[in-house]
Amino acid sequence: MARPGRPEPADHADPGPAAFAGSAAPAAASTAVTAASTAVTAAAEPPVLDVRDLRMHFPLRRSPVAVLRRRPAEVVRAVDGVTFSIARGESVGLVGESGCGKSTLGRCIIGLYRGAAGEVRLKGVPVAARSSATNTQPRVAQMIFQDPYSSLNPKMTVRQTVLEALRVHQPVPRRDAGRRCMELLDLVRLSPQAASAYPRQLSGGQRQRVSIARALAVEPEILIADEPVSSLDVSVQATVLNLLDDLRRELGLALLLIAHNMAVVRHVCDRTMVMYLGRIVESGPTEQLVTDPRHPYTRALLMAVPRLAPGHASLAPALTGDPPSPIRLPTGCRFRQRCSLAAEICASEEPGLSGPGDGSARSAACHFAWTDR
Ligand SMILES: Nc1ncnc2c1ncn2[C@@H]1O[C@H](COP(=O)(O)OP(=O)(O)OP(=O)(O)O)[C@@H](O)[C@H]1O
Ligand code: SF4
Ligand SMILES: [Mg+2]
Repeated sequence: MARPGRPEPADHADPGPAAFAGSAAPAAASTAVTAASTAVTAAAEPPVLDVRDLRMHFPLRRSPVAVLRRRPAEVVRAVDGVTFSIARGESVGLVGESGCGKSTLGRCIIGLYRGAAGEVRLKGVPVAARSSATNTQPRVAQMIFQDPYSSLNPKMTVRQTVLEALRVHQPVPRRDAGRRCMELLDLVRLSPQAASAYPRQLSGGQRQRVSIARALAVEPEILIADEPVSSLDVSVQATVLNLLDDLRRELGLALLLIAHNMAVVRHVCDRTMVMYLGRIVESGPTEQLVTDPRHPYTRALLMAVPRLAPGHASLAPALTGDPPSPIRLPTGCRFRQRCSLAAEICASEEPGLSGPGDGSARSAACHFAWTDR
């Protein structure tokens, strides 16, 4: 596998055995496809991921009084009408505050929630159909979770963990599973000695590499990485993000990277979507979004990372207050109670996503996104 020239610092801050980390560059045979070529999707090819008007509302348990009075159950509108698609090889960031629905969206994509409305298609096939398929069918999307420790079985060695994924999904014949397991460890820059380690013997960064190896075992075409570095030491975060970025380029994978922080997605993503209270409120090429944010919420998120928005300090204050409850949403714009630019129209009309009208790939859900207000 040919690796791009990016130096891969060892997880030097990891407390785990140094021998497990930062193995030599992978020696596996190359099927390297660059992101530049893979992101150009043939006209006839469906996007790897296509999400249309996705809604995931969690009904709350009714109180005895509500049952007696026959009041309908209240619902948490975790995801409330989200539409986007991701092409082969594309990396897309999803950012927003805690509770805005990022993880719920990721879980809907891999078919974890049955009550979701709208449509999710992976390579043109509805996710509902895939979830009823047999375990041996290839999995187009794989998820990497925030906390690698709780997502790994503490009683299984690294080798057993990866072999189990290979055994269940059978991307290679059984006789090749051992060899494939070692290739996967090499791919995620873990040394062969790591194969016999248990999760408790590994550092956070190394555990996350094991989670990535397990996800890659089924040869997915898109990785949904849900805050993959937020539980890691700051000095290790960059090495795991670099690994994800390198793997994406080497394997031609698409990536949906979920994060709280704009700085994390800027590092890796071609395009970024900003989510607020269950909806996408701004979307566009990451660099444009960072240098010229059009939604007040995006500006406020950038203000939380001062180095990313040196010129926007005067446009909007940093975020104040908590978002409203996703059970009782305000009328009009969902952001209006926290927006310093709110006007009368913002209370009565909910703005839809709209572009500047110049054919660019940008869009924002604010009545004043494309005016000089
Ligand atoms: N199973 C569930 N039942 C009821 N409400 C839920 C459930 N799962 C999530 N929620 C609610 O849905 C909303 C979105 O949650 P979600 O975990 O998707 O947010 P998030 O953006 O991933 O937050 P964080 O950044 O903290 O991980 C929250 O209000 C949460 O309390
Ligand atoms: S629509 Fe109004 S309240 Fe909403 S973000 Fe724009 S200016 Fe602020
Ligand atoms: Mg989450």
